[in-house]
Amino acid sequence: MSPFPRNQWYVAAYAHEVGRELFTRTVCGESVLLWRTEAGEVAAMADRCIHRRFPLSETPSRLVGDSVVCGYHGFTYGANGVCTAVPGQARVPRTARLNTYPVKEQDSFVWVWIGERDKADETLIPRSPWLDSPRYTTVCGMEPLAARYGLLVDNLLDLSHETYLHGGYIGTPEVAETPITTEVDEAAGVVHVSRHMDDAECPPFYAKSTGITGRITRWQDIEYHAPCLYLLHSRIAPVGAPGPNADGSDLHAFHVEVVYAITPETEHSTHDFWAVARDFALEDQEVSDFLRENNRTVVLQDVAALDKLEQVIASESAGAQELSINIDTGGLAARRLLKRLTEAGSEARGTNERQSLAVS
Ligand code: FES
Ligand SMILES: [Fe+2]
Repeated sequence: MSPFPRNQWYVAAYAHEVGRELFTRTVCGESVLLWRTEAGEVAAMADRCIHRRFPLSETPSRLVGDSVVCGYHGFTYGANGVCTAVPGQARVPRTARLNTYPVKEQDSFVWVWIGERDKADETLIPRSPWLDSPRYTTVCGMEPLAARYGLLVDNLLDLSHETYLHGGYIGTPEVAETPITTEVDEAAGVVHVSRHMDDAECPPFYAKSTGITGRITRWQDIEYHAPCLYLLHSRIAPVGAPGPNADGSDLHAFHVEVVYAITPETEHSTHDFWAVARDFALEDQEVSDFLRENNRTVVLQDVAALDKLEQVIASESAGAQELSINIDTGGLAARRLLKRLTEAGSEARGTNERQSLAVS
């Protein structure tokens, strides 16, 4: 069985990473070549030449106009993956083509579909509109994680770890002390976890960025759209400030949208895309620099912990016991959803493989 849900959209890159240079990233064990056509469209295809499997992202492979020329013997491919030229003969074999991936650029991400292409439905891609909205300012990055993606899902769905792992940055005692509520939308594949702190210490992450000096009301509302997109709607206001209005406006609070795209690279490694979008101090470069540095530090604290955890799990026999408590309800719900999606994707793949065996 595949260790990842297939027939799913995953973030392969930030849009700004993909240009007129050949760029590669491994998604769910598949090496994906990304580049932009002269018209600016993103092309996504297998990063392995069909001739002798030389990586097309590797020099001296190169982009010539809207064609990729393999750097080993010169097989040439268009943006649709079709091979248009081979060396030493005029006839190009009819079956000569690279597998291409359905791809969609949206909300500053490049999403690729991993699975059966006829099932790819762009309307299923979860949204994070803050990331390229003029009403927000965003800082972002990506850190490689030498750990399975499920460990990052566990980590993000249980923010009580902020108190311990991220003390002095975003953690304060109230995060671990305040109970959560968890709801699961099984049909949509979304887990909601909320923690509302009425009177909490303001951690440096928010004190320095918002300028609040006293205690705060701090809301953490998580939406995890399995498998790839995690949204943390964070609301910060001085204690005693009025709450949001019935029409959704909320003039007395600061809002930070923390977005993670959790993309499996291999069974034991993950691309940890993170972004922090704020609706205040939009033009303030110092606030941007501070939030970028501070959040990256926090992400690297998680990376260090999860890399260690991966080593522990990989070294132990299967079935080593864990003990779950109330704080784990979100993470356990996410695990159930991911198991269901993984099984569904594997069944689909099994059916496909049987069909292709039958016709060959
Ligand atoms: S490996 Fe690409 S042309 Fe031979
Ligand atoms: Fe963390």
